[in-house]
Amino acid sequence: MDGNVIVGQSGGPTSVINSSLAGVYKTAIDRGAKKVYGMLHGIKGLLDGQYVDLSEKINSTMDIDLLKRTPSSYLGSCRYKLPEISEDRETFDKIFKILDDLDIKYFFYIGGNDSMDTIKKLSDYAIVTGSDIKFMGVPKTIDNDLVGTDVSFGFQSAVDIATSTIDCIHTTAASHSRVFIVELMGHKTGWLTLHAGVAGGSDVILIPEIPYDLDKVVEAINKRSSQKKHFTILAVAEGIISKEEMEFTKKELKEIRKREHFPSAAYRIGAGIMERTGQEVRVTVPGHVQRGGSPCAYDRVLASRLGAKAAELIMNEEYGYMVCVKNNQMDKIALREVAGKLKTVNPDAGIIKEAKAMGICFGD
Ligand code: F6P
Repeated sequence: MDGNVIVGQSGGPTSVINSSLAGVYKTAIDRGAKKVYGMLHGIKGLLDGQYVDLSEKINSTMDIDLLKRTPSSYLGSCRYKLPEISEDRETFDKIFKILDDLDIKYFFYIGGNDSMDTIKKLSDYAIVTGSDIKFMGVPKTIDNDLVGTDVSFGFQSAVDIATSTIDCIHTTAASHSRVFIVELMGHKTGWLTLHAGVAGGSDVILIPEIPYDLDKVVEAINKRSSQKKHFTILAVAEGIISKEEMEFTKKELKEIRKREHFPSAAYRIGAGIMERTGQEVRVTVPGHVQRGGSPCAYDRVLASRLGAKAAELIMNEEYGYMVCVKNNQMDKIALREVAGKLKTVNPDAGIIKEAKAMGICFGD
């Protein structure tokens, strides 16, 4: 490798995010990179001049192994969206000046949707200005909403935690005649809720991709009660929306939400269910627990395989890509095909049909 490397982590961390950092570091060193820098708190930190020389922090193969096992982002993360190049060239000039001062030739960014948007904009700016810096993205998100990859690491570990939350609710739910609502992360998509909901045996699963009708949800709860099933468990995604709410603009909906004063989606639908069924409702929001803890075996394997693919691309001098999974094979996809897009659950997908056939209500 000719020149130095910089690597950053961004967005919500997953329990396995440092495995890929270790992979990029090791490959870069093995390939002869002089220095490997780490951005502190992603691109936002870099803009403020915050970075470390990782070669000074990682002194042995044992350090690399320990890094792989360290949860959360070792380098710190950020939630920062770069402006459009046409609107603010100054920000880009500032970043490229820092990169040039550090003699950076290779730029790796590990993250989700906003991170791929960041790296795509930087890569575009490099083309516009004739910079020879090469860019590569590594997909990480518990939301699994990155276009171009069947799955991203972090997702399966979060599914396991969310499933075990629903399992725990199951064991207590059986003792009471109540409605239990478990609200799961996923931002604007329902991947996490769908998978954990099915795995945990939820009776109702609500996801943003299938706007719900409260009447149908109430019907499903009442049906269970009439069958002497004394409890109902709902897995609901944080981004759910009702059929009626679909008629509002984003701005109107924001105003409505502000006036309602519900802390989150589960409380909102919980109030409706309580009013309509007269049953007691309990809400559980595991929140950031879903992004923590120790990664599951599947994610560890996936992070290693994606890391190895990234290494292969580096060896072949192939840049401008995000490494990805296609039909269980490691692959690559151009950053321009990923950035700014969202992979949503297809309401007609097999898994939804199968779940419906098992009697799970989706509120539609
Ligand atoms: O993008 C991952 C995610 O965990 C989403 O599921 C969730 O909506 C969001 O991050 C929460 O963000 P933050 O941790 O910044 O509040």
